[in-house]
Amino acid sequence: MNVAVMGYGIVGSGVAEVLAKKHDSIAKRSLQEDLSLKYILDIRDFPDDPNAGKFIKDFNVILQDNSVQIVVETIGGLHPAYDYVLACLQAGKSVVTSNKELVAEKGDELLATAKEHNVNFLFEASVGGGIPIIRPISQCLAANELDEIAGILNGTTNYILTQMITSGLDFDTALKQAQELGYAEKDPTADVDGHDACRKICILAALCFGTHVCPKEVHTEGIRALTLADVGYARSWGGVIKLLARAKRLDDGQIAAIVSPALVKNSSQLAGVNDVFNAILVRGDTLGDVVFYGRGAGKLPTASAVVADVVDCARNWGKNRMLLWDNAKDAYVRDYLDYETAFLVRAKSVDVPAAYADADRVFGTVQRLIRDGASDSEFAFVTPADTERALRAKLDTLLGVKVLSIIRVADY
Ligand code: HSE
Repeated sequence: MNVAVMGYGIVGSGVAEVLAKKHDSIAKRSLQEDLSLKYILDIRDFPDDPNAGKFIKDFNVILQDNSVQIVVETIGGLHPAYDYVLACLQAGKSVVTSNKELVAEKGDELLATAKEHNVNFLFEASVGGGIPIIRPISQCLAANELDEIAGILNGTTNYILTQMITSGLDFDTALKQAQELGYAEKDPTADVDGHDACRKICILAALCFGTHVCPKEVHTEGIRALTLADVGYARSWGGVIKLLARAKRLDDGQIAAIVSPALVKNSSQLAGVNDVFNAILVRGDTLGDVVFYGRGAGKLPTASAVVADVVDCARNWGKNRMLLWDNAKDAYVRDYLDYETAFLVRAKSVDVPAAYADADRVFGTVQRLIRDGASDSEFAFVTPADTERALRAKLDTLLGVKVLSIIRVADY
């Protein structure tokens, strides 16, 4: 059986490396006489690469070669990845991808196409890098109704937040450090503005709750606006700020889904997840909480998840694994303003005692917080829980108060 890799970036080259280094054991585990990498598709040249003889630039070579039965897509982005993957599935080839944008946007369609052609479309590496999460959710937790997921799904932002919390670096300095270490891209938008975490929670929500969730339906906030003052108030409250991606099944068939910075108590299992590590908490009705933890990115951890899917495709050749979810439906994701939460509010007023008294009157008693280095006009408090819509309306009625930041409080 032959394999092709499309896209020879960090993950694609890691896949080629693992397939070569572990050739014999992978073939054995695949229950195949042989499982070899035949082609690598990339528009760039790699003349000094050990795989130099395998590079091609024309996708049709892969499509038309019937000896290539499994195709790995590590190009990233939607196009041409989607077009190539769809064509491969329609041609009766199984596809393995690490591309979360592709799965989050087109997962329902590609899974249905795989089923129709009795092949597989697998994507373990699209969420949590090397952490096994897709297979556990779809197979091992099958005896549970999964009600809720909360994850630290982006390593870059978790590294930046860890530096802000433990080393007192401000956001810009921590981002620069993350870029120097190769964690953050030159253009860090997808990570720091939460889009990467959003795609990943859409995939997990689709798997857990059975219906496709479009990234554009999920309210997403990143970490750019966070300051060391916010970090200080979180500390005095007894917790830390994490970029959380959350999804929850609601009673009426809708779901709640949001990506935003959130306060978690120091006692939470998510609070101690630092640096580039990821963690995913899944709440099931039979099992309770289970947390998956590990390296969420990186060449070899991610390649390890991709190769495991390749082995799965080879072992199950001729069988569709019945991994499916329904197409997206209207009004499935409830408006985030209707989710219940508490807020940590940081604000300014020329009369802080009067502002606190006003906050107590408007919200019911608030929890007042202090931090070292605050100016005389700065103050902060945690509200009781209410819908976000109600909390924001109440905040607007506070007299002589300028709100500087709002951070949601999570209950994990
Ligand atoms: N940029 C991503 C992260 C890589 O920082 O987590 C893995 O998807």
